[in-house]
Amino acid sequence: MKDIDSKKGYFANRRTVRRFSDREVSRSLIDSVIERAMRAPTTGNMQLYSVIVSQEPSMLEKIRPLHFCQPASMGAKVVLTVCADFYRFSRWCRLSKAEPGYDNFLSFTSAMLDATVFAQQIVTIAEMEGLGTCYLGTATYNAEGISDLLSLPELVVPVACLAIGWPDGEGEESERLPLEAVCYSERYPEMTDGDIAVLYKAKDDYAPNAKFIAENGKETLAQVFTDVRYPRAMNEEFSEKLLGLLRKKGFMKNG
Ligand SMILES: Cc1cc2nc3c(=O)[nH]c(=O)nc-3n(C[C@H](O)[C@H](O)[C@H](O)COP(=O)(O)O)c2cc1C
Repeated sequence: MKDIDSKKGYFANRRTVRRFSDREVSRSLIDSVIERAMRAPTTGNMQLYSVIVSQEPSMLEKIRPLHFCQPASMGAKVVLTVCADFYRFSRWCRLSKAEPGYDNFLSFTSAMLDATVFAQQIVTIAEMEGLGTCYLGTATYNAEGISDLLSLPELVVPVACLAIGWPDGEGEESERLPLEAVCYSERYPEMTDGDIAVLYKAKDDYAPNAKFIAENGKETLAQVFTDVRYPRAMNEEFSEKLLGLLRKKGFMKNG
């Protein structure tokens, strides 16, 4: 029991960092973090990912607008673009008299999962080193622009971008749903409207969210998500763009 409590303690205070100090992050530290993250599990141990390190000021200047100049991208000393990558593996197959069959959506999904697990492993190890990190979800919104900037070949698609630097301050605390909202026993439960309201009560009541609702002129927190942060029209527009890029990169040959 003591052991379980101490593990909870380790992660209980983790948070995303969006403000970074001017202190440089050495390339050797980044390489060391990435090399350790490469111990992450992958589909069939194929390691269907790659990561582009952007650290030169001229490249950071070009990549920031592709992340809508979000605050975390502006102060970051390093931006990592983690990609789903079947290019390198497919070339190796051909070199080895093997015909790759990875130009399809299932293969993209495998590579996307490998890249996602790898990205989170980078986050965890970077944070253990005292670095601050912030995912930039704009990686998939502007995946084509990022792909062009970074010269990504066929079968390589950006999945997750990470802004990294030494933290300036602690980052903001954020709320979580209670365990019973996400963890079910044996089968997915039936939930009444009342059950859902109870599971989301703490989130709805979380004080910083009230400010968020007022600032956006909304009545509920959910409206901030549906009307402001992730509205249908935006989701559909960027879905089309991402599907177009998957086609262009050769991941949708079967559909
Ligand atoms: C896939 C993904 C995309 C994200 N995109 C962004 C982003 O574009 N900008 C940002 O500031 N934070 C981004 N985040 C960070 C989340 O906002 C953050 O994890 C969440 O609010 C919880 O806060 P915490 O990590 O401090 O606990 C992203 C996180 C994930 C996992």
